[in-house]
Amino acid sequence: MASANVLLSLHLLLLLEGSLSATFNIINNCDYTVWPGILSGAGTGQLQTTGFALPRGASQPVDIPSSWSGRLWGRTSCSSDPAGDNFTCATGDCGTSRLECSGSGAAPPATLAEFTLDGSGGLDFYDVSLVDGYNLPMLVVPKGGSGGNCTSTGCLVDLNPACPSDLRVVRSGRSVACRSACEAFGSAEYCCSGQYGNPDTCRPSQYSQFFKNACPRAYSYAYDDSTSTFTCAGADYDITFCPDTTSQKSGQDGNSTAVPLPLVNNTMVFLGGDEVSSSASSAVLPSVSVSRIMLLATSWLLIRLLFA
Ligand SMILES: *[C@@H]1O[C@H](CO)[C@@H](O)[C@H](O)[C@H]1NC(C)=O
Ligand SMILES: *[C@@H]1O[C@H](CO)[C@@H](O)[C@H](O)[C@H]1NC(C)=O
Ligand SMILES: *[C@@H]1O[C@H](CO)[C@@H](O)[C@H](O)[C@H]1NC(C)=O
Ligand SMILES: *[C@@H]1O[C@H](CO)[C@@H](O)[C@H](O)[C@H]1NC(C)=O
Repeated sequence: MASANVLLSLHLLLLLEGSLSATFNIINNCDYTVWPGILSGAGTGQLQTTGFALPRGASQPVDIPSSWSGRLWGRTSCSSDPAGDNFTCATGDCGTSRLECSGSGAAPPATLAEFTLDGSGGLDFYDVSLVDGYNLPMLVVPKGGSGGNCTSTGCLVDLNPACPSDLRVVRSGRSVACRSACEAFGSAEYCCSGQYGNPDTCRPSQYSQFFKNACPRAYSYAYDDSTSTFTCAGADYDITFCPDTTSQKSGQDGNSTAVPLPLVNNTMVFLGGDEVSSSASSAVLPSVSVSRIMLLATSWLLIRLLFA
């Protein structure tokens, strides 16, 4: 009894001091090294790390203070000079010339995981966003939480080979990232700015729909909130780069029945597509079937563009 009371008081004390925390377990399932970057929002608790190397197959737990908000992404193809200076990355670079991002965010295009912990109603709000473009597949899985739509989100497919050519970022002949239409064309219509600065006037475009069809639960443009924001109470989070697509059909963790869209669009495999083959050679495709899906997606987009 007494010890239960002590535990309860400790718990209350922690609650009052706002130091109850979550853990992000960051997992690299890619067959290459990823350098995660983390940016804390203004006025939120700082983390023990803002950037580090995560070799293939490795995982790294990161303690997150309560009420933290911020974003996390993966940097790819990073290198530094022999002295360890001038650290730069082909995608997701944060511009510090160092491993740590120290308050700087990702240069687009980059796939982002965004969090606001202990927000309205005591709920964590989280999403995976392609609004700033895409650079690698990412999955967020809440662990041990509860709530209406406490379930997995992310973008599980490799969109780089299938990226429309006018959005594609190519390095050494290889497609390494896919820009948002806003970044590629800068128009108010795609950026949801100016007269397009509200959900009624800023509508999905053929470009945002390319992202949404491939990754139904990820943000594809600025006002994509209703199908892309998830909430959970009391969870830790597994954040995986290049998740195994075969074991993650539709978010088995948590309450996936409460959300309208699947994690993976399985119907894409049945769409059109004939001989769009050579453009999509890549060493980092998660599986043959997914590369097939994305080839079909490319031809579907071509068809859409031709007959729009
Ligand atoms: C970093 O790179 C720049 C440009 O390549 C070079 O001028 C500079 O000397 C490098 N800095 C260090 C510390 O190596
Ligand atoms: C799957 O993709 C097709 C087009 O490729 C699209 O028509 C359909 O709405 C998508 N389904 C989901 C659930 O996003
Ligand atoms: C999850 O729940 C929140 C709060 O009710 C809601 O705003 C959001 O649209 C829901 N997300 C999905 C993907 O259904
Ligand atoms: C799952 O979501 C449904 C619909 O929002 C809700 O009625 C149900 O209570 C939820 N189940 C759990 C375990 O949270």
